[in-house]
Amino acid sequence: MERTLIIIKPDGVQRSLVGEVIARFERRGLRIAGLKLMHISRALAEEHYAEHKGKPFYEGTVRYMTSAPVVVMVLEGPNAIQAARQTMGKTHPLEAAPGTIRGDFGLDIARNLVHGSDKPETAEREIALYFKPEELVSYQRVTDAWLSE
Ligand code: CDP
Ligand code: MG
Repeated sequence: MERTLIIIKPDGVQRSLVGEVIARFERRGLRIAGLKLMHISRALAEEHYAEHKGKPFYEGTVRYMTSAPVVVMVLEGPNAIQAARQTMGKTHPLEAAPGTIRGDFGLDIARNLVHGSDKPETAEREIALYFKPEELVSYQRVTDAWLSE
């Protein structure tokens, strides 16, 4: 069982795609362990994207991520990190396959709708940035036994 941090970015919320995006992850079989609407502060965005500091797109990404509210969630399931990134599609929407979130709804790399953690260490770090431990809920769904052995 693995957990990943997903963010529906400001463009996803502004374009009224919150339900659509959550539905895709839910249908994939991933279980929601935490979910909230928030407006990311400059300090939090800088911490989140610290690995990209100094790159040409860094400032634009921080401004984009803090420009309007986002929906953040923790999803869990077997190989949740890889499964979620596959459902999202590649970073540039033009390289993302049709059928993925970015491939179906995006055009521009700077407006690519969703964030998903890229590896277990990152997921742990990012979940701690956005959620207090008591905000995450552990439970089983009756369907979980039909999603993996
Ligand atoms: O989000 P992902 O892990 O797929 O990509 P990343 O390479 O870690 O980049 C983080 C985010 O920075 C992207 O999702 C874009 O929002 C933004 N970015 C951008 O605006 N222009 C680029 N050339 C690269 C990234
Ligand atoms: Mg990344």
